[in-house]
Amino acid sequence: MTTLRLRPEGPADTGPVRRVLATAFARPDVAAPPEVGLVNELRDSDAWMPELAMVAEYGGEVVGYALLTRVRVKSDRGSAPALTLGPVAVAPHRQKVGHGTAVVQAALDAATELGERLVVVLGSPAYYRRFGFSRADRMGLTSPWSGLGEPWQALVLPPATSDAAAPPQGEVVFPPPWAKV
Ligand SMILES: CC(C)(COP(=O)(O)OP(=O)(O)OC[C@H]1O[C@@H](n2cnc3c(N)ncnc32)[C@H](O)[C@@H]1OP(=O)(O)O)[C@@H](O)C(=O)NCCC(=O)NCCS
Repeated sequence: MTTLRLRPEGPADTGPVRRVLATAFARPDVAAPPEVGLVNELRDSDAWMPELAMVAEYGGEVVGYALLTRVRVKSDRGSAPALTLGPVAVAPHRQKVGHGTAVVQAALDAATELGERLVVVLGSPAYYRRFGFSRADRMGLTSPWSGLGEPWQALVLPPATSDAAAPPQGEVVFPPPWAKV
């Protein structure tokens, strides 16, 4: 039986990941979806966390991708680290069989193991609700997208240790690559 393998991306995955993003986000009006450039720029930035760029491999082929990268949460108490989820993509010929759910959950589990406390995402509530995401504006989190309401979502991860820091609240600041999308 062919099984789904979930693992952090390696150097050989750059091309296959680009293909998954390009096909999943393909639109007739754009030559290359912005998500492809976004991932390339994040990979070269301080926001990149190699353990949290997760690929789903099926029958030796990379078919899914979920990326968690660093953001900062600013408040009058200072600046605290958090993560943002995205892009999330599954190759069109393998969609709707659970690969997206599996690769996102693997990335979230890896983040929990690293002691991360908070993940934000901008996307479809109908999709991200299954992982436990809910409205970020109701959790004291703002961003350039907070005015959108429901699509601006956050998830508090379970504490890895008994002395873990509380999840931060405040203004979520995204690194420069996000300004273009
Ligand atoms: C979104 C995406 C990653 C889901 O991957 P997938 O492997 O098909 O997802 P799964 O099989 O794990 O889950 C399928 C479920 O997600 C739902 N779903 C898929 N895309 C959705 C979307 N954009 N909004 C809401 N629900 C969505 C399906 O209706 C299905 O629902 P069900 O479980 O109630 O039947 C994939 O469709 C994709 O790559 N889309 C294009 C890129 C994209 O839009 N990414 C960002 C998503 S906000």
